[in-house]
Amino acid sequence: MEIPAALIERLEGARRVSALTGAGVSSESGVPTFRGPKGLWKQFRPEELATPEAFQRDPRLVWEWYEWRRSKIASCSPNAAHRVLADWERRFEEFWLVTQNVDGLHDRAGSRNLVKLHGDLWELRCAGCGVRERNEAVPLPAIPPRCHCGNLLRPAVVWFGESLPEAAWRRAVEVARSCQLFFVVGTSALVQPAASLPWVAREAGACVVEVNPDSTPFTPFADVSLRGPAAVVLPALDQVICQVGQRDEESS
Ligand code: OAD
Repeated sequence: MEIPAALIERLEGARRVSALTGAGVSSESGVPTFRGPKGLWKQFRPEELATPEAFQRDPRLVWEWYEWRRSKIASCSPNAAHRVLADWERRFEEFWLVTQNVDGLHDRAGSRNLVKLHGDLWELRCAGCGVRERNEAVPLPAIPPRCHCGNLLRPAVVWFGESLPEAAWRRAVEVARSCQLFFVVGTSALVQPAASLPWVAREAGACVVEVNPDSTPFTPFADVSLRGPAAVVLPALDQVICQVGQRDEESS
């Protein structure tokens, strides 16, 4: 994979770097994306499965779908792209990762400077009292699960029509605004407000690099577009970053 010279130059001076990821980063781990020809939203109707109204109408159906996703993801492992993004916390002076993914694969790869915009599939939240619990049981002992207070537990993810967690969104905007390089990896850049983050970074003067095998509505505005799967492109980029680091060490 050829990395453009202009990007290598930007990498040389980069201290504050951030990335936004979407479902495509987990695609090579075997986790389905949402919008491609084999995407989840081609097989399932989001309004029947991923809205508060759907949960109120039929919590069992919603939970069956989340159980299916949890069991599928439990058998998947982080791929080279997740691992590189976790390593970048050590490669750069400051690295923050903002993700729309709820699959937990960034955590499992070791990312710690992580902002989860759409929640986490492995966390449950009481629809009544709001208490949260980490729960990685597959399958859950009972569907739909219940809280100690008697109300139903729901997946702690953001559904259509719901707002993003406020603190996570604030942090994501800060991260996009304050970085020098911003990577947009494996997202169709269609779902707001996450899709506005590359714009926030661009307007604040960052060099914005898109990593995606296909074009997106953001592609014409990216400073650099790297066409290919994240699990191929990010390791190639990481190699360049290591070489740049070694060169810097030798010259100092
Ligand atoms: P999408 O399914 O909309 O887009 C996935 C993107 O990944 C597409 O642009 C693909 O071209 C790209 N892609 C596929 N394979 C790839 C690979 N191996 N490497 C890199 N990129 C690849 O997923 P998101 O953009 O994450 O929201 O979708 C955003 C939100 O829409 C999700 O978080 C979810 C969904 O409805 C909620 O659940 C709230």
